[in-house]
Amino acid sequence: MTGGRGAVITGWGTALPDKVVTNADLEARLDTTDAWITERSGIRERRVGGTTTGLATDAGAAALAAAALEPADIDLLILATTTPDQTVPATASAVQDALGLTCGAMDVNAACSGFVYGLVTACGLIGLGAGRILLIGAETLSRITDQDDRGTAVLFADGAGAVVVEAVDGPGSLLGWDLGSDGSLRSILYADVGGYLEMEGREVFRRAVRVTVDSAQAAMQRAGVTADDIALFVPHQANLRIIDAAGQRIGIPSDRTAIVLDRTGNTSSASIPLALADALDHGRVRADDLVLLSGFGAGMTWASAVLRWPETDK
Ligand code: UT7
Repeated sequence: MTGGRGAVITGWGTALPDKVVTNADLEARLDTTDAWITERSGIRERRVGGTTTGLATDAGAAALAAAALEPADIDLLILATTTPDQTVPATASAVQDALGLTCGAMDVNAACSGFVYGLVTACGLIGLGAGRILLIGAETLSRITDQDDRGTAVLFADGAGAVVVEAVDGPGSLLGWDLGSDGSLRSILYADVGGYLEMEGREVFRRAVRVTVDSAQAAMQRAGVTADDIALFVPHQANLRIIDAAGQRIGIPSDRTAIVLDRTGNTSSASIPLALADALDHGRVRADDLVLLSGFGAGMTWASAVLRWPETDK
């Protein structure tokens, strides 16, 4: 945002199911190996279980606590998810009730790009006068994954990550962003209502690298920065090879890249906030650092944002 009223992230939190499924567990029941999964995806274990409402509520409560806010302080809840608990109503309504929020609540579904779509939306609404927005990315992808399909069962998993976005005087954190979609590609990754995820893995891989690079570069260009200025790249956590290939082309090495997929698998809308929170918890982001978020997913959709990390007094 530019102008008099900006938005900054002031708190974050995560939630993962207790149940850990390792590659060895999958090796025992599918025609796959730990070596194949690790080499082809970078995933070593993932978490499975719970509901989208439950995971989102836990992550949201943690983010509120970290920002030292009460439920009544929040002006809007945005829940990015591609695995709602019900078709109607929005899962955000259940999360609002569970957290005791008294504000508006809506779901955003832009598949794995959903969290960044939600972040840009939150920053825009803060520009229009909202004071504090709770943004959560939460998924229970295990429920829409055929656990007998080795092509998808080894990849997709469950989890949630949340941030509190607050208004500040001045330009705020969001320096540049890019949101995109090419709906003609929706057949390469989809789940019909009541059905399982179907994916043309190789095709998604090929396009994912391209759209991540293009989208990240568009957001950086709009922010007036280059890859050398980026302190931390937080990509969608789908496949380590996609992240490495995209990072290489963008010009950001792996030591400036946030990775959690070895422990979480692909958690779609939750993957970027999980990776961001992990980096923040490990002190990898300092005040004034530039952080590049970049996601891609079914649709296809893609979304990137360049943030200048704020000074925080919380
Ligand atoms: O959130 C966004 C969503 N999705 C993605 O970003 C996924 C993008 N795609 C990928 O990550 C990769 O394409 C995969 C990890 C899904 C697959 O890796 P790949 O290197 O592209 O493998 P492939 O699909 O080309 O398959 C190579 C071989 C095939 O056997 P043949 O045809 O060469 O005999 C597959 O049948 O590996 C086989 N295969 C497996 N083997 C062992 C596929 N899945 C498995 C498995 N274990 N789990």
